[in-house]
Amino acid sequence: MKLFQRKPIAAESDRLLVRVLGGGDLIMLAIGAVIGAGIFGAIGSAAAGQVDAAGHVIRVGAGPALVLSFVLAAAACAFAGLCYAELASMIPQAGSAYAYSYATLGEIVAWIIGWDLILEYAVGNVAVAISWSDYFKSLVGDWVTMPVWLTTGYRTALLSPDPAVHGLLRTVPHIAGIPLLINLPAFTIVMLITWLLLLGVRESARVNNILVVVKLLVLGLFIVMGSQHINTANYHPFAPGGFKGIGQGAAIVFFAYIGFDAISTAAEETRNPQRNLPIGILGGLAICTVIYIIVGVVLTGMVPSSALGSAADPLAYALKATGLTSIARIVSLGAVFSLSAVLLVFQYGQPRIFFAMARDGLLPQWAAKVHPKRRIPHITTLVTGLFVATWALIGDAGETYDLTNIGTLFAFVLVCVGVMVLRRKEPDRPRPFRVPFVNAVGVIGAALCLYLMKDLPGVTWIRFVVWLAIGGVLYALYGYRHSVLRTGREVMTESLE
Ligand code: ALA
Repeated sequence: MKLFQRKPIAAESDRLLVRVLGGGDLIMLAIGAVIGAGIFGAIGSAAAGQVDAAGHVIRVGAGPALVLSFVLAAAACAFAGLCYAELASMIPQAGSAYAYSYATLGEIVAWIIGWDLILEYAVGNVAVAISWSDYFKSLVGDWVTMPVWLTTGYRTALLSPDPAVHGLLRTVPHIAGIPLLINLPAFTIVMLITWLLLLGVRESARVNNILVVVKLLVLGLFIVMGSQHINTANYHPFAPGGFKGIGQGAAIVFFAYIGFDAISTAAEETRNPQRNLPIGILGGLAICTVIYIIVGVVLTGMVPSSALGSAADPLAYALKATGLTSIARIVSLGAVFSLSAVLLVFQYGQPRIFFAMARDGLLPQWAAKVHPKRRIPHITTLVTGLFVATWALIGDAGETYDLTNIGTLFAFVLVCVGVMVLRRKEPDRPRPFRVPFVNAVGVIGAALCLYLMKDLPGVTWIRFVVWLAIGGVLYALYGYRHSVLRTGREVMTESLE
């Protein structure tokens, strides 16, 4: 059957990229990819908890103990991040965890990961787009009145416990009995980003640096202004949901850290990776964790945590609730820029994973097509754009955060396992970066990620299993028969520039 056949790792001489990045550059890259909807959006329901429209508890809120949720999620990312770095430094191929698992755990696992990464990249961007839309509304709301049915997705209305939002299902115009509830701003921003990517626009290091400064300034402004409006009474009780609340909070704010794996892919371009990769990964993670903790302390001190659940734009909400309306506008503007950058990074990454899978014969060949002039995977870029934009049109941020998190955590688990497997299978292969105490780091990393997965809602698990099952069927019908590695079939290969 050869389902577990491993793809040979390309030799060092095949590397085309130049080692130019230092530890500081990696930290900037990490902050650029990471700070987004997690801290601007998901933080609200992590603090407050979440109930569905029928009043059933989906997750218990962490309350002010949200700071511990951030630490827990950061710890899982730190261990997994180191494992990513070792694989990224020794497997110089596009496709992130997909390529690593192909070389370590074999084709079937690689397929599962590649399929699973759609949850991280494409589905993750659905949540980011919806959060973008929430801040956009918060920004322009005072000047432009958009009909609510054009700015609220169907799933958001369906799931909302807020009678005003849930009631929209009845009051908005209907077409053929279906309530017309769409999130037009979320759709539009995704299509706009897709168009930019099709033009061949890439976020350059310079643009990234500017955006990192914008993000840090905006969060800094929130901290400085918000901290003057803290009411210490809001810190009691500190952990209303106990350990469960902290764990379930961590399982959702994990979203705020997604993107670290993206910097491990810069391993080939890093000078002295043994020193600079851990600096970049752990340094970036430490900086984001400190920022997140301070934002969490300020936010839960400004308003009662329970009030944050209904706010889709929690930072702007807290500022407005304490009378800081113009600061709320500035923060919303900063959030709109920050989230656009995250959208761009993930809309850029997903088509390249599809490309890598198609080049290996696991997806149809049209997905491996490269635009002759622009040298970009234009077809998968467009397909990804349409998929994300359409889902964002009717989707709900909360349920997409959860689905993204479970998929990403699962990929992290496999990467932690993969690094240990490869140490045994190919102990002598050169490793530009080696995880220290690999077995301890791999086991603890996998265990922490599984722990966070456990705290995601049951319905998310069901959806995840269904998603993997659909992937399994597709593999049986297509990838299994067309795999270049297993069938030895020749495929046209083109490379991206
Ligand atoms: N970490 C990224 C965000 O929070 C995905 O938007």
